[in-house]
Amino acid sequence: MQHDKVLILDFGSQYTQLIARRVRELNIYSEIHPFNKIPQNLNDYKAVILSGSPMSVRSAEAFHPDLKGIRGEKPLLAVCYGAQYLAHFSGGEVAESNTREYGRANLSFIQDDLFFENITVGSQVWMSHSDTIKTLPTNGKLLASTHDVQNAAYKIEGEETFAIQFHPEVYHSTDGKQLLENFLVKIAKVTPDWTPNAFVEETVEELQAKLGNDKVVLGLSGGVDSSVAAMLLHKAIGKNLYCIFVNNGLLRKNEFTDVLEQYKGMGLNVKGVDASARFLDALAGKSDPEDKRKAIGRVFIEVFDDEANQLKDVKWLAQGTIYPDVIESVSATGGPSATIKSHHNVGGLPDFMKLKIVEPLRALFKDEVRRVGASMDMDATLLGRHPFPGPGLAIRILGDITAEKVRILQEVDAVFINGLRDWGLYDKVWQAGAILLPVNSVGVMGDERTYEKCVALRAVESTDGMTADWVNLPYEFLQKTSNDIINKVKGVNRVVYDISSKPPATIEWE
Ligand code: XMP
Repeated sequence: MQHDKVLILDFGSQYTQLIARRVRELNIYSEIHPFNKIPQNLNDYKAVILSGSPMSVRSAEAFHPDLKGIRGEKPLLAVCYGAQYLAHFSGGEVAESNTREYGRANLSFIQDDLFFENITVGSQVWMSHSDTIKTLPTNGKLLASTHDVQNAAYKIEGEETFAIQFHPEVYHSTDGKQLLENFLVKIAKVTPDWTPNAFVEETVEELQAKLGNDKVVLGLSGGVDSSVAAMLLHKAIGKNLYCIFVNNGLLRKNEFTDVLEQYKGMGLNVKGVDASARFLDALAGKSDPEDKRKAIGRVFIEVFDDEANQLKDVKWLAQGTIYPDVIESVSATGGPSATIKSHHNVGGLPDFMKLKIVEPLRALFKDEVRRVGASMDMDATLLGRHPFPGPGLAIRILGDITAEKVRILQEVDAVFINGLRDWGLYDKVWQAGAILLPVNSVGVMGDERTYEKCVALRAVESTDGMTADWVNLPYEFLQKTSNDIINKVKGVNRVVYDISSKPPATIEWE
């Protein structure tokens, strides 16, 4: 079944992905493309949205989209830069604004129009721009104003073209979703039928058509993406999906056995491979973070390849790549770039594997992956797991790695993570873990002087790991956790809590 699609043209705004997500929350499939790489077949799209941009339309380097086949021919919504672009180059005027136009504002005037249906004067909108639209373009009709911004929204008469200066996609624009719905469903007549259930049904059919009787191999990591990808493939091709779950010895305490059991319980055709010793050998004496990452990547490929070679006639390699990994980005400065982010979990499998790639989650954002998993009745604990880095505890043990250090950190991490769960804090945190520091410090236990390891705890909130802030965990929780760690984990006599944000720090310490 074909769903109506919405095309989002990106001009490098930090909010472009949010537009796509908001549209998808309306059960409408949307795709992001750079403004200078408009897809050839526009018939595939029922409506188009122009994003914001850090660029000024008045600058000599302003981004110029080619709107042939779009403007006046398809319903078009222009946001921020898009709105200024349409004004500036179609008979209106854009100038530097002389009042503050960042942050909250409220609509003080709204024209009676389908575009603003169910939105009333006073509605809060989010502004973020330094230019302002002084004069509307030819055939422009004012639709809304705020106290400071006269031309906050307009339409072009005779076309289904609408433009807004504020950002409907951000949470602070309280009626943003309603506005997108008005535009997409009421004006553009897009059918909102793209649901997780529909996605599962169609993806399973597509996978069956594409893979036929072919065998597929997939590396499970215990994370959400590879698990959901596996479940979709399992539904499609059953036993022809061969999953490999490698224990690199750097997973959380009991994770290998627990998660392997869980995978088996889900009916997956999965083989657990305990290669801990091989990884530890390769890491011996290495303390530079990048050397450690490289060693782990190399051994992973060797182990995976050994296993895959034992399977006969495998034709495909499945990966849990998701949409943010493949969106082409427009760089804010220096013009549009066509760099595709590399998926750091994939880490480059060797050419000699000669497998075709299948990526069932390529079109989904992380929150959509979780919803798709939930619609297949996957376990909520598995779907709600924090992200965990591919190199695992190796990049949380600063300096060189030994089996004893891994053991200590696994114990500390387990006390911390189980504590978060017990206190109902786990789901409030985006990612958490413990770090083993390469220092000993003096302590006193009973009447004895100790000289033992120090661990740091880290808990962050984030949406995508690109930026993050430390979580204000309750003091009582930190106090109890610190006590538990020092009392239960032999070799640790000091616990600290990391209160750095990203940037300038990073989430991991290495
Ligand atoms: P940083 O430390 O860069 O981490 O702020 C951002 C997110 O990426 C994860 N991370 C990794 N994941 N291989 C991975 O698969 C890696 O080498 C790696 N390094 C960092 C990190 O856990 C966080 O979620």
